[in-house]
Amino acid sequence: MIETDQTALVFKVGTNQKLYQSYLGTSLKPSDYTSLKDGQHEAYQSAGTDNLFEPAIQVLQADGNPSLDLKYVKHEVRQLNDHQQTTIELKDPEYPVRVLLILDAFPKESIITSAVTVINEGKEKLVLKQFASSMLHMDAPNYWLTQFHGDWASEMRMDEAPLTSGIKIVDSKLGTRADMYQSPMFYVAKGKQASETTGDVLAGTLAWTGNFRFAFEIDNSNSLRIITGINNYSSEWPLEAGEHFETPPFIFTYSNQGKGQASRNLHDWARNYAVLDGKEPRLTLLNNWEATGMKFDQQKLVNLFDDGVKLGVDLFLLDDGWFGRKYPRDDDHTSLGDWQEDPKKLPDGLGYLAKAATDKGIKFGIWLEPEMVNPKSELYEKHPDWMLKLPNREEHYYRNQLVLDLSNPKVQDFVYETVDKTLSIDKRISYVKWDCNRMMTNTYSPYLKNEQSKIAIAYVRGLYKVLDRIREKYPHLPMMLCSGGGGRTDYGGLKYFTEFWPSDNTDGLERIFIQWGYSNFFPANTIAAHITSWGKQPLKFRTDVAMMGKLGYDIEVGHMTEKELAFSKNAVATYKELSPIIWQGDLYRLLNPYEQPQAALMYVAKQGDEAVVFQFDWNTEMRNKPAYPVLLQGLDAGRQYRVEEVNLMPGGKSRLSENEKVLSGDYLMKVGLHFNGRNYASSVVKLTTN
Ligand code: GLA
Repeated sequence: MIETDQTALVFKVGTNQKLYQSYLGTSLKPSDYTSLKDGQHEAYQSAGTDNLFEPAIQVLQADGNPSLDLKYVKHEVRQLNDHQQTTIELKDPEYPVRVLLILDAFPKESIITSAVTVINEGKEKLVLKQFASSMLHMDAPNYWLTQFHGDWASEMRMDEAPLTSGIKIVDSKLGTRADMYQSPMFYVAKGKQASETTGDVLAGTLAWTGNFRFAFEIDNSNSLRIITGINNYSSEWPLEAGEHFETPPFIFTYSNQGKGQASRNLHDWARNYAVLDGKEPRLTLLNNWEATGMKFDQQKLVNLFDDGVKLGVDLFLLDDGWFGRKYPRDDDHTSLGDWQEDPKKLPDGLGYLAKAATDKGIKFGIWLEPEMVNPKSELYEKHPDWMLKLPNREEHYYRNQLVLDLSNPKVQDFVYETVDKTLSIDKRISYVKWDCNRMMTNTYSPYLKNEQSKIAIAYVRGLYKVLDRIREKYPHLPMMLCSGGGGRTDYGGLKYFTEFWPSDNTDGLERIFIQWGYSNFFPANTIAAHITSWGKQPLKFRTDVAMMGKLGYDIEVGHMTEKELAFSKNAVATYKELSPIIWQGDLYRLLNPYEQPQAALMYVAKQGDEAVVFQFDWNTEMRNKPAYPVLLQGLDAGRQYRVEEVNLMPGGKSRLSENEKVLSGDYLMKVGLHFNGRNYASSVVKLTTN
């Protein structure tokens, strides 16, 4: 039995020694577990024997037998610091294959993670053809799948539809920029559609920075099986004698109070265990990408430091374009791989910039895309066998670049050294934006030779090896995981990163939808949100949107009016005051932008004594329509809260009916706040108790 405060997963061993799932749902009273019926569904079903539907595991044995039979051997429960780990051992009675199901239960956060180890105990090689991290079963008349998909600049579009008979696959075959079209997370609601506050819902995501595959299959009896793991597409894994294969964990929670509770469980778990320094503060920043592109020189950057100081942000982030000696990086056709400062743009190097920034009272950070190479680079000339490309075929580029072969330990060393050498230029370099701007296509690894089916998996493992080394030397350096927008958004990566870049699209209105999507699975302190010149909404609207995540700027401060600059300075100060609640509080999504031209959400401090509400309107006809109040959630009904609208434009007046009133939590949750919004109006409201 795997149990947390809210979620439980129960297995039973049948008389045939097979392992069955007998329960998945919200936790039961301790005495009720014994009343559970024997399970109908094999817990981790293999291919090749009597399984009629999608398997969790498929093995080609050394003698050519295409089947695996798994029988229960034993299980072991270990109490680790703050969670419990159950290892269930299964074994093929005839072939030397052992499978360990490793289930970690985090009681307080109600999260279970499921990973699998397959061990070849024989003397010959076998082939793993399917290797799921988890297989879960449900029985209900209906199932609703919410998936998240998109493209560059339109990431995390949310779609909900009923599952029907047969298989629905949500997967990625993109390799590096894996999550650009499909994101590795989903909800399955059981019986009825789940809302934010009601319904039985499973929320799950895979901790893997590469190809994933989620299969949802409804069988002839209307039972649903959910199989999640690394995508086995083109990825057969040869397992040599004595070797083992470890899958990444699939992370899930089950709530009977809708999606909001499921998200809060995931956020708590993420901050406590999954994201680098999840409980620590984040740096606000000014980035130069939207403002300068690659056209800058040393002096221009030093002037921009002043803009950062004016705004009051913590850090200046130097983006793409600072490197390349033989081939200067003036556009995206050259130089990736040549990570030395361009002497024309930066004659005194990064050290000078780091010092100049620090002297002005602002930290300095740097953009890198260390996994990539442009054909026009010294790296390409020196190491033509270090990149993924097909022999006897024309090279195929995406953004004029190729992916380095991270399955090769020499290339891993190069990527590690690139980062290490850059950081060693000056200890004051205190932030890295780690980019990855292309997916794998026309993939062939010169290093893996006749084992090409390994590349997608070996690549991610190579990347993790590099990141492990970086984190050993730089355990707390803040790093942003970026992939040409939101091409990498997973908890496998976030173990090494403090935040991620959700999308290059920073249009205020579109960002509401994008950030809303991510908020289902990631806490606000990981969702980087910058104020830029994309989008035509008022600066206040764009600022309020960015404040819902980890705030930054990527804008020409020099083009701001005096009033806008005064507002922005004030906004940074306000954000600093509110950010502990935004980053560490409980999120309640109140008005869903997919349902009306309005959005609202709030963060409540863990002690319930403070909260921040964000509200947005973009209905051009709003003036002719009744404006309904926004009912708050998560407050302490018995407490009195002072309501105060903050982040107004200088001289701006609040339209909020309840502004500056003291009201009970009960009232605010039952009667709500009247924003009286107009087109492109937005509000940030602070609630405090004495
Ligand atoms: C990607 C990133 C952007 C920017 C550019 C630089 O597109 O998503 O934020 O860093 O690369 O080339």
